[in-house]
Amino acid sequence: MIPARIIEQKRDGGVLRAADLAAFLQGYLRGEVPDYQMAAFLMAAYLRGLDDTETDVLVRCMLESGSTLDLAHLPGPRVDKHSTGGVGDKVSLALAPLAAELGLFVPMLAGRGLGHTGGTLDKLEAIPRFRTDLSAARFKEVVKKVGCAIMGQTTEIAPLDRRLYAMRDVTGTVSSIPLIAASIMSKKLAEGLTGLLLDVKVGSGAFLPEEARARELAEKMVAIGAARGLPTVALLTAMDRPLGVAVGNGLEAEEAILCLRGEGPADLRELVVAQAAEMVRLGFPDLTPDAARRRAEGALGSGAPLERFRRMVEAQGGDASILDRPERLRTAPVQVDVRAQQAGTVLEVAPRPLGEALIALGGGRTMMHQPVHPGVGFEVRVAPGDAVAKGDLLGVVHTKDEAGAALAVEAVRGAVRIGAPGEEVVHRPLICGRVDRPK
Ligand code: URA
Repeated sequence: MIPARIIEQKRDGGVLRAADLAAFLQGYLRGEVPDYQMAAFLMAAYLRGLDDTETDVLVRCMLESGSTLDLAHLPGPRVDKHSTGGVGDKVSLALAPLAAELGLFVPMLAGRGLGHTGGTLDKLEAIPRFRTDLSAARFKEVVKKVGCAIMGQTTEIAPLDRRLYAMRDVTGTVSSIPLIAASIMSKKLAEGLTGLLLDVKVGSGAFLPEEARARELAEKMVAIGAARGLPTVALLTAMDRPLGVAVGNGLEAEEAILCLRGEGPADLRELVVAQAAEMVRLGFPDLTPDAARRRAEGALGSGAPLERFRRMVEAQGGDASILDRPERLRTAPVQVDVRAQQAGTVLEVAPRPLGEALIALGGGRTMMHQPVHPGVGFEVRVAPGDAVAKGDLLGVVHTKDEAGAALAVEAVRGAVRIGAPGEEVVHRPLICGRVDRPK
């Protein structure tokens, strides 16, 4: 296998032989294919696509690049959830302990910020001392003891995804159906699950904004799960506006804690409950949708998932006292209000410019392995359909310095589009589709 020939073949739209693609990927893992050739390959794959067989090779190589968790000894269903990525999507932080409270074991392998979207690991690491780099043995212990644990791909589990994920983040190669599908499904297949829920985002803030493409991604991932004996369900959910109020690692961790307390924004709560209900049905298929939802709502209202989150934070080395005073996650030194310059109806709160501005503020990466600032971000205080008067609060920006604040204020003004008073706003429903079988 000559790496440059593989890249050229894909660049020219060819279909790679399974053995050649596998040799290229394994060569990368062994250090025989350098980063620059992998970056070129990813761009060729992004532009030309991968067919089902090539995608399957990628899934297999990612999965086999590390070990698979054996959790069969756990006395209950093992169900996880993964989102394709959004702005303000902090669902996983609240969902994992809620699902554990509902009798599921949740061994969650999550990601860092990717492109303009935030990552669960960066949000959790806003909690002082929280460790997302556990050994596989420690991860399994925490899942057994607490019911849930969240960490990243490691050198032990899905290391090929870990490296390609970080590279795609900074090389403009994220928004590809086969690359996303293989990345997500390899991690999830490594978790030894009995059921998987996928949250496939739709709208301008999603990697695949159009509903038809998002559905195609959902169907592909459900098919990969089915082919490997993993019952998989996907919800299509709105990402034409940020989820909740907070955008930024620490602010989002705070909002997830508020959700676990039964507070916080209604859309976040709705998505957490709906996803928990789906996970419960994957674990206990005899439950009706209504019964599953009632259980999820009841558990969230009980306060028990917050205590479970506390145990998870402690088990992963984090400072659990943050749960009692989550406002301590607001660590950015500069905070500036952004006010409406005109009266009218909020027509749009565009997620993508906020996600991109967050990177510019230091809350995301422009190069692999860069540290992120946990405190920077936005509170977006308006939603599409809201009526605003001149001078009303649109949001609050949290930045490292005044220069950042100026940039962030502009980003909020650019994201919040205000139309004439009373102008009609067409909403995409928060949950806009469901896929539970391959096409
Ligand atoms: N989440 C992942 O884990 N990988 C992707 O490629 C996109 C979202």
